Amino acid sequence: MSEKEDLDLHKNAKDVINQISIVVRTAQIHDANNVAISSSISRLVSMINMLLDKENLISLELRGEFFYINEYRIRYSLEYLLNFDFLVREFKKRELGSVIFKNQIKIDDVKVFTRAFISASYSDEPFDFFEDKISGIENIEIGRLKKIDDENSLDVRKMIKKTYFNAVSYTKGIMNKMKSGEKVNIRKAKRVMESMVDHILEEEQLLLGMTAIKDYDEYTYHHSVNVSILSIALGQRLGLSRKMLTELGMVALFNDTGKIEVPSEILNKPTNFSDEEWKIIKKHPVWGVRAILKLKKLDELTMKSAIVSFEHHMNFDHSGYPVIRQKMGLDLFSRIVSLADQYDAMTSARVYSRTPLAPDKALSIMLERSGTQLDPLLFKFFINMVGVYPIGTLVMLDSKELGLITESNQIFPTRPRVLLIMDGQGNRIEGRVVDITEKDEGDNYIRSIQKTMDPNKYKINLAEYLL
Ligand SMILES: [Fe+2]
Ligand SMILES: [Fe+2]
Repeated sequence: MSEKEDLDLHKNAKDVINQISIVVRTAQIHDANNVAISSSISRLVSMINMLLDKENLISLELRGEFFYINEYRIRYSLEYLLNFDFLVREFKKRELGSVIFKNQIKIDDVKVFTRAFISASYSDEPFDFFEDKISGIENIEIGRLKKIDDENSLDVRKMIKKTYFNAVSYTKGIMNKMKSGEKVNIRKAKRVMESMVDHILEEEQLLLGMTAIKDYDEYTYHHSVNVSILSIALGQRLGLSRKMLTELGMVALFNDTGKIEVPSEILNKPTNFSDEEWKIIKKHPVWGVRAILKLKKLDELTMKSAIVSFEHHMNFDHSGYPVIRQKMGLDLFSRIVSLADQYDAMTSARVYSRTPLAPDKALSIMLERSGTQLDPLLFKFFINMVGVYPIGTLVMLDSKELGLITESNQIFPTRPRVLLIMDGQGNRIEGRVVDITEKDEGDNYIRSIQKTMDPNKYKINLAEYLL
């Protein structure tokens, strides 16, 4: 299938799901012979038959919280959000997992189908009832909802992992090309970022969790991708549109492009930089501008990337570098990227010999910089996003158990989800995730966080737990 057809199917699939939802809603109020419902059914039939012109069959499947059409996961779009959620609930009520349309379907069949769908909700065995009622229809089949809750969350995890590592290897490829002086095209970056944005909108915590896994061997690539993820997630909280989030992700990805010109002996130096070396490193924002301007196509986006590359170390109060004579307001994207960049740099090890800061320590340093080096308002959003205890933080609970934060809690920031890794006696245990908002009969919390710990002291490999 060509990419264009993929997109068509995807676009139409959204409309089909929306239309099914409309039919069901209307049928809940009107009899299936009513005019309103007749017209919405005939619209649905022509939409499906149009797709059936190109595909042998259309299989609509509910997996977890998402609909898939012919194995493509349908994106949630804001305009259809309510109708999507409604349909997910209605499918679940009937234990309905899939509907398959074949050949061409008929309006009368869909009427029977709709009536059966509605009455099934009153049955004790809704799926069997439904299946029985539509057994006379030739070109529509249904399947029972699979209980795949755990498997499904595993699938999502896998998908997030894939998206993340895809982005890392893409970054590696493109940076190496730029390094060797090849003219590169960043069109693919857009696609990589679009899927990243989708995942952040849906599975923010999982993708943020990926940024907690650090890899010093491929530091630069991971760092770039992490900065993108953190920037997009922050941008989402600021209410930026999907299009802007994609752009933000891209400019974030290229923010350190200038580093390709810094000699690797310096970049990978295990000890502190000398003054001379610092002088060179401080040139990377300007070198980045130059590298970006060498790209194949110069458009608004490349210009934005150049601006962010230039400004990302300037600091909110212009105390950073490069030093410019005339003070000006920094671009919003630059201020976002600079926050994300500092956080990820502090919590990562650039080379194996350096110990990264624990996430909460990094945040407390950033808090001191808030209002001077960092935009204070954006920092508020940022801390809200990563949480008081960011994912990957090692904590000791009052039960003396040790755990890793796996998910932040937006409502009770001090009560995130914790993966237990050591019991009260100091024995390693197989991961069990606990919800520390749980209380006992006396209305007391069963567990609370007592303090944060240094994961390096305990030789804990985050990847082992978070991947
Ligand atoms: Fe930088
Ligand atoms: Fe950086």
